[in-house]
Amino acid sequence: MKVFKTKKELNLYFKEFRSKNAKIGFVPTMGALHKGHLSLIEESSKENDITVASIFVNPTQFDKKEDLDNYPKTLENDLNLLKKVACDVVFIPSVEEIYNNTILALQFDFDGLENEMEGKYREGHFNGVGTIVKKLFEIVLPTHAYFGEKDFQQLQIIRKLVKKTALDVNIVCCATYREANGLAMSSRNARLTLQEKEAAAIIYQTLSGVKDKLEKLPLDAVHNWVLEQFENQPLFELEYFTIADEETLKSAPNISPEKTYRAFIAVYAREVRLIDTISLNS
Ligand code: PAF
Repeated sequence: MKVFKTKKELNLYFKEFRSKNAKIGFVPTMGALHKGHLSLIEESSKENDITVASIFVNPTQFDKKEDLDNYPKTLENDLNLLKKVACDVVFIPSVEEIYNNTILALQFDFDGLENEMEGKYREGHFNGVGTIVKKLFEIVLPTHAYFGEKDFQQLQIIRKLVKKTALDVNIVCCATYREANGLAMSSRNARLTLQEKEAAAIIYQTLSGVKDKLEKLPLDAVHNWVLEQFENQPLFELEYFTIADEETLKSAPNISPEKTYRAFIAVYAREVRLIDTISLNS
């Protein structure tokens, strides 16, 4: 496994692959890797000639400094895990390598996708994500890039970014990897206590329950049922729950048979923020 810290080294190494039109799979990460990330690497390895992962904690996508400061940093363990799943290349640039001396996000128009859900609660988050993903795509020049379904809003925004900037990358959505109790894998789970981790089963249970309830109840009753689930659970505070159109990410006033929908949720366990989503059509 090759590990590069600079664009120059990475480019030099990839020159030969690009000249042979190799399929380059890319998995951008912020480190603190878990099985979900590793499943993206494995998916990419199956479909490409070479797989590159990046580890970069992107400062411009954090709206709160303490969240950036508390983001788990486990580089040595990450590199060991990547080696185990036979990742070919890892790119671990410094903040200066990516941003020079100007740590600023570009401003994007994602046709309103950025104003829904996460966009309402994390100011500037998607400008930061768009900035780093664009920069990394321009450096790595992947043919395919892999993202988890858990961050579905991010995935749709990256698809929009690719469309709007004419970047030539196929965006691949990979199923959410879950703990045995249904909790979606996330680097933030490392900050949960054992008790919170167990109790966090409520998130996926509630999302799954929504699917069931939607067959019997009107939308507002389903919303109320979700609120009740969290009112009775002292360890978690519900930030938002919404049923939204998969394409526009706008909350659905009603369910139309021609469209596809998802349930989205964000909750806090103390200061640890967890999100999840499920498709309501599959
Ligand atoms: O999903 C993430 O880990 C990050 O938002 C990403 C896509 C690596 C950009 O920093």
